[in-house]
Amino acid sequence: MRFDTVIKNGTVVTATDTCAADVGIVGDKISAIAAQLPTEGATKIIDAKGCYVMPGGIDVHTHLDMPFGGTTSADDFQTGTIAAAFGGTTTLIDFAIQYKGQTLRTAFDAWMKKADGKAATDYAFHCIITDLKNAQLEEMGALVREGVSSFKLFMAYPGVFMLDDATIFKAMSQAAKHNGLICMHAENGGAIDVIVQRALAEGKKSPKYHALTRPTTAEAEATSRAIALAEMAGAPVYIVHLSCNDALEKVREARDRGVAAYAETCPQYLFLSLENMDAPGFEGAKYVFTPPLREKWHQEKLWQGLAKDTLQMVSTDHCPFCYKEQKEMGKDDFTKIPNGGPGIEHRLSLVYTGGVHGGRFSPNRFVQLVSTGPAKLFGLYPRKGTVAVGSDADVIVFDPNFEQTISAKTHHMRVDYSMFEGIRTKGAPKVVMSRGRVVIENDKFVGRAGAGQFLRRQTYTGL
Ligand code: URP
Ligand code: ZN
Ligand code: ZN
Repeated sequence: MRFDTVIKNGTVVTATDTCAADVGIVGDKISAIAAQLPTEGATKIIDAKGCYVMPGGIDVHTHLDMPFGGTTSADDFQTGTIAAAFGGTTTLIDFAIQYKGQTLRTAFDAWMKKADGKAATDYAFHCIITDLKNAQLEEMGALVREGVSSFKLFMAYPGVFMLDDATIFKAMSQAAKHNGLICMHAENGGAIDVIVQRALAEGKKSPKYHALTRPTTAEAEATSRAIALAEMAGAPVYIVHLSCNDALEKVREARDRGVAAYAETCPQYLFLSLENMDAPGFEGAKYVFTPPLREKWHQEKLWQGLAKDTLQMVSTDHCPFCYKEQKEMGKDDFTKIPNGGPGIEHRLSLVYTGGVHGGRFSPNRFVQLVSTGPAKLFGLYPRKGTVAVGSDADVIVFDPNFEQTISAKTHHMRVDYSMFEGIRTKGAPKVVMSRGRVVIENDKFVGRAGAGQFLRRQTYTGL
């Protein structure tokens, strides 16, 4: 038995098991897991003593190279996948946007071009639908067959992305027919718009009003409506970037009734709060994204949601805009601040710190939340999302005791600030592999831009 790479002396942690074992890799696949594997002839031997050997992270919610709010998100598929890899994430699912009047295929082709030759790790796409005539309804099945098996719809951003209930219901019915999954941005965009216009008329234009004009009730109402529409359509629904207890309660109630409702939250809602928006001057703009930051007490509710499976995963909603020049576009009016925040790099360290070191869940649950759950729900399992013979060798050697302080001075995202500046984390990847190739080692990127492959995802089969 000869391996290209052997990872020795580590503890393999999957979503279900923990065991001391070596991992042997041949080509781009894991080919053996055993107590002692031979190293003769191996090109590379990695010593994982004191570390966990885990599947690479899967981030199902990123916006790389995305035009939005009059500008474009600051990371492209090269800088974004490299920053993700530094943090132990080896697969992304990004969003291809269909603009009004376009076919869904146009969106898919455009985003395939953006990623091609740039992505350093593997990637897949959801399709954002903004215009659903009969022709696009017909196209949904074709996209699912090509591996784009999920669609994001918006209940917010009237006039830009927002769809009405009839269109949402049609899209859900069509997704159900083709075993696709609907991802929902759940905020009541109509009501929010009225509140926003009132605030502007009263001269309330600073960044904090972005948060104060988007109440938790608007998120809870839309979450409840999305679930009701999905139930009527006989479709599963996945609520993206859930931020508050009010919406969490709607998901919990539906799941208790056996409804196929799923939800993610993001590190910003677990670690930051409305207080961050009181940063001096215009700095609150660094935290302008939707849904907005909430009062601090919601954080523990979200952590408990992750522990109790009301929430099934943590994604980042990475949508970076530089403070200088991009966020500054809204200096005199919060509605002109491009919505989004950078987070692709620190998801694993943050979730491990708060979740495992915080005593809220086990390392196995951590793997489920950042890798296995995303792989299963979004049709990538067992190729991705686990350490098993035959799976892609997307493997991280994770040191559970490595401490660092997050800072824009040391991060690898192409953005001039960090949302998590100064936060101390414990637990970080030391070695990161993508399909058998080491991409991060000794705190350096040693992979290749363009080596990432597009992943055709399977249809929805549950979690
Ligand atoms: O503010 C955000 N979340 N920007 C990205 C787009 C979205 O709604 O996910
Ligand atoms: Zn959204
Ligand atoms: Zn998003």
